Amino acid sequence: MSFAEATLFEERLPDRFPKLVNLYEKAKRDFWNETTAIDWDQPSTLSSDHRVRLARLLSITYYGERAAMTIAAQLVASVPDEEARQVLSCQVIEEAKHVGAFQRLLKRLDRIHPPSYFARKLLVDLIETDDAVAKLVGMHLFVENIANHSFSALREGIDDPVVRQVLEYVARDEKKHTAIAVLYLPSLLEKLSLPKAAWLYGKQVKWLTLGLLMVKDGYEDARALNIDLATAGQKALHQHYKLRESMSSTRGLLDVPYFDKVIDTIATWVQQKK
Ligand SMILES: [Fe+2]
Ligand SMILES: [Fe+2]
Repeated sequence: MSFAEATLFEERLPDRFPKLVNLYEKAKRDFWNETTAIDWDQPSTLSSDHRVRLARLLSITYYGERAAMTIAAQLVASVPDEEARQVLSCQVIEEAKHVGAFQRLLKRLDRIHPPSYFARKLLVDLIETDDAVAKLVGMHLFVENIANHSFSALREGIDDPVVRQVLEYVARDEKKHTAIAVLYLPSLLEKLSLPKAAWLYGKQVKWLTLGLLMVKDGYEDARALNIDLATAGQKALHQHYKLRESMSSTRGLLDVPYFDKVIDTIATWVQQKK
């Protein structure tokens, strides 16, 4: 029986993931409309130099949101459990709103800037990797978590009412996306074969390296805006381990005990280059 046939005509009632059902309910309750929820008419309080710098940083986010929309849609078609498919369907519409909100915000600030080399490599590889578990690890556990912490660093550093409003609405949704990984990934990870787990390690090393280099490219603009991306990275790493602790299986997940030192080294190196 094909995967499509087996999942479409599966007889069991969805009852294995009650917490995913709760998350699905929360997602539906929290729906917002980026066209009407944000007060787009508020004047910007940023200087023109800060607007351009922020637009460069948020352009990376914009491409990340586009990738997240595509990946959530791919996952709806490729995960085996109905509760996960429902909550991922909500994610597709949430990411669509984030794409819309950032598109509008970027045009208001300056323009949409082209992606950096590393952003392009990372996001294309996440989309083209033909494996649901790897996509959930790469997008939901790594990228969504890093995005969450970058958003809070930006929210603290940028004193512009529209920017803050967009980031607050988006961050509320992104927390639900890391929760998908925590609640659903363990059931898939525990079934990983040894060769698949080894392959997944390789993918994580590649994505972490590309992700770090992608964030590094934003350090200069971030510093000019008084945003501390290195501290945001440390907080993201700390949260990553907290998320892992709440997962019943972490089979195949890369352990990166010295990653805090890597973040510090890169931050110091970028600082010295100036
Ligand atoms: Fe998003
Ligand atoms: Fe997301």
